[in-house]
Amino acid sequence: MRRRKEPRWLAAAKVRGGVSDTGDFLSRALARAGVLPLVEAERAIREGRVTLNGRVATVVVAPLEPGDRVEVDGEVVDVRPTTRVLAFHKPKGLVVDARDPEGIGTVFERLHALLPEELRGYGWLAVGRLDRDTTGLLFFTNDERFVAHATDPDTKLPKRYVATVSGKVSDVKLERLAQGGIDLGDFTTLPAQAERRGERDVALTLTEGKFHQVKRMLGAVGLSTLELFREAVGEYVLDVPLDALRLLTDDEVARLLGYRPRHLDRPVE
Ligand code: URA
Repeated sequence: MRRRKEPRWLAAAKVRGGVSDTGDFLSRALARAGVLPLVEAERAIREGRVTLNGRVATVVVAPLEPGDRVEVDGEVVDVRPTTRVLAFHKPKGLVVDARDPEGIGTVFERLHALLPEELRGYGWLAVGRLDRDTTGLLFFTNDERFVAHATDPDTKLPKRYVATVSGKVSDVKLERLAQGGIDLGDFTTLPAQAERRGERDVALTLTEGKFHQVKRMLGAVGLSTLELFREAVGEYVLDVPLDALRLLTDDEVARLLGYRPRHLDRPVE
């Protein structure tokens, strides 16, 4: 079997080694390491249940140094950074936001209903956004550095969408979408990949992620979006049933998304 060539964005991401972060503080470290979700970590600190190097910590944003000893309720906890990435197959209807004034449901409520016990201690962030009526791949992570990696335009992480449209999918329209340079008012599109997937379906692969970008690009060439599905990000193709999630392996995060999980760089003790 012929080996597929490594895509350029992936080789570049490995060389860059990810986006740097800005120090660490106690509550965030507890949430990132899977000890307590952020709100509970903050509460535990306020209640005086957390010690830092033997002293009761009273400040949720107390800076942490490597090697600091942290205890919660008298037990030593490991607060070294870890990276966990979950792939979620988002159904229609859920909003990618912590709040939902319309009361239909958020992806975070769904996440917490689906999370297995061993992943409940983490503080979870959604990686990018999907519209309420869009289905498909949404990552959650405990690692804000992974969020930056996946959403930073410099990473050029490809995101592949499949849209069902009303209107004729002509070669001319596909060519316009692919060429880039479509003026959408607040920005001009970069070159993309656009291909026909059947009578009414267009697969569009973007390396940027502006607000309603797919729908607006299709609208600009006279196609209105009836359904939108995100099929793949990077080299990872969604393999989770609708409304379910799966923890990616370290190898998948590195090989398919070009990000080195943080716990792999822990010094050997
Ligand atoms: N582009 C859109 O228009 N909507 C999405 O949900 C994602 C990309």
